[in-house]
Amino acid sequence: MTALSIDNAVAVIGAGTMGAGIVQVAATAGHAVYLFDTSEEALTRGIAQIEKFLGRSVAKGRMDEAQRLAILGRIHRCCDLKDLAPAKLIIEAIVENIDIKRSVFSQLEDILSEEAILASNTSSLSITEIAAKLKRPERMVGMHFFNPAPIMKLVEVIHGLVTDKDVAQITFDTAVAWGKKAVHAKSTPGFIVNRVARPFYSEALRLVQEGGADIATIDSCLKESGGFPMGPFELMDLIGNDINFSVTKSVYDAYYQEPRYRPNLIQQEQVAAGRLGRKSGQGYYDYRDGATNPTAQTADSAPAPTAVTLMGKNALFSPLVDLAEKAGITVNIGDTEELSGFMIGDVLLALTDGTPASELSNVLDRPTVVFDLALDYKTATRIALAKGDQVSGADLAKAVGFFQALGKKVSVIDDCPGLIVMRIVGMLANEGSDAVYQGVSSPEGVDIAMMNGVNYPKGPLAWAQDIGLEHIFGLLDALSHFYGEDRYRTSPLIRRAVIAGKTLI
Ligand code: NAI
Repeated sequence: MTALSIDNAVAVIGAGTMGAGIVQVAATAGHAVYLFDTSEEALTRGIAQIEKFLGRSVAKGRMDEAQRLAILGRIHRCCDLKDLAPAKLIIEAIVENIDIKRSVFSQLEDILSEEAILASNTSSLSITEIAAKLKRPERMVGMHFFNPAPIMKLVEVIHGLVTDKDVAQITFDTAVAWGKKAVHAKSTPGFIVNRVARPFYSEALRLVQEGGADIATIDSCLKESGGFPMGPFELMDLIGNDINFSVTKSVYDAYYQEPRYRPNLIQQEQVAAGRLGRKSGQGYYDYRDGATNPTAQTADSAPAPTAVTLMGKNALFSPLVDLAEKAGITVNIGDTEELSGFMIGDVLLALTDGTPASELSNVLDRPTVVFDLALDYKTATRIALAKGDQVSGADLAKAVGFFQALGKKVSVIDDCPGLIVMRIVGMLANEGSDAVYQGVSSPEGVDIAMMNGVNYPKGPLAWAQDIGLEHIFGLLDALSHFYGEDRYRTSPLIRRAVIAGKTLI
């Protein structure tokens, strides 16, 4: 299958935020693009948005004035649906209302040629349902761009129940030809990104709800340790708490109250108070002039240990050993495989596996401090730690001093299972695995989607693989055991891979 020929015209319906962005992408790729909107004002605004974006590209030297004019010359403003007749691919980006979308597509069927592809940019409606009453439902596909469309790389190509495979493949190849990363996905609530990303927000909210850590510490750890471009609270404030809350509610309801997607009362309160985020001036943070905002909790400096003992063989610890040696700390090699982490005197510093430090301290009969996952321990600038309830402040200080000697800031949080980064990455991997297990997409599709739709630093499945699938399996089991909630059940895909000694991706 090949991409839509550049000689074929594209039509976009809806000149709002998304429609204008999609027009720009298609016209930049070289297609003639017909843009229709019921509102003259929206058409004017949409085209002005494109002109402004392209003007900035010229100013930054990314294109010259001739290219800008050529792109604008390929865009045709239309005030009648009939003007779209020459288009071979039509992308709808109008209001998110199933009845209105269905009516527009059924009118289009009488205007367009039979081989035209009908694509919708819907982010939450069923492609199967939009297509159901069409004469040619097999020509209907989802082409889900991300905002801002000219910048965000991902396009989810959504297969409805009767979408023709060739139609989906042409759509996929066309997105690739337009410079996008495309992934195939089955028409299911939230598709890939809006489903797999749910734990990024919901586990962060749970941590706050149970007093595990505050918002600034959670955001900082996910950025500085986890390598995420934004923390969940900053991101919810940017998206808008009303939008994020309504996506969560719609995915939760669409999956018949699946507990993993359960909305959180903290977010409901934000919305009820009108604290919608940046757009309303206040959300989890305060964006008004002169406002002071919370900062991450950072431990006072503690003395560095002179020597530590490395226990077990976990490849993730190598950068920590290198950093410790560079800091002049002697790293001895332990003679037992039963423990995993670092001994500092009689204190065990262990990578969290979801078992609370209090429980580990009891079971292992030694004071235990757990530390959080980092994307890369060499470059991470902050690490979260938690001590067992029965562990003394002096023993905690040994762990704090160790990470500080390695150049890290330390956030001491409550002894909540899985801490921050490990818990969220584990739950993202679990959700991604379930999406694969249920045939929504391939493992590669999930990882590409999360890296290009929400800029995660690593695909959750590949990340789980690097941490060790058995470790993730143990983490989820520990969370499930601790909370006794179905929400933390392990995806069958992970369970089966661990049992069979296979990889996820
Ligand atoms: P928007 O509100 O900015 O633009 C919608 C446009 O559609 C308006 O200009 C409106 O005049 C026009 N319109 C409404 N009914 C129409 C009709 N019957 N015929 C022609 N034009 C009509 O909305 P936005 O944000 O661009 O969203 C559009 C679609 O894209 C929705 O389905 C939304 O779920 C989806 N989407 C939105 C994303 C976002 O971040 N805003 C991201 C990905 C998808």
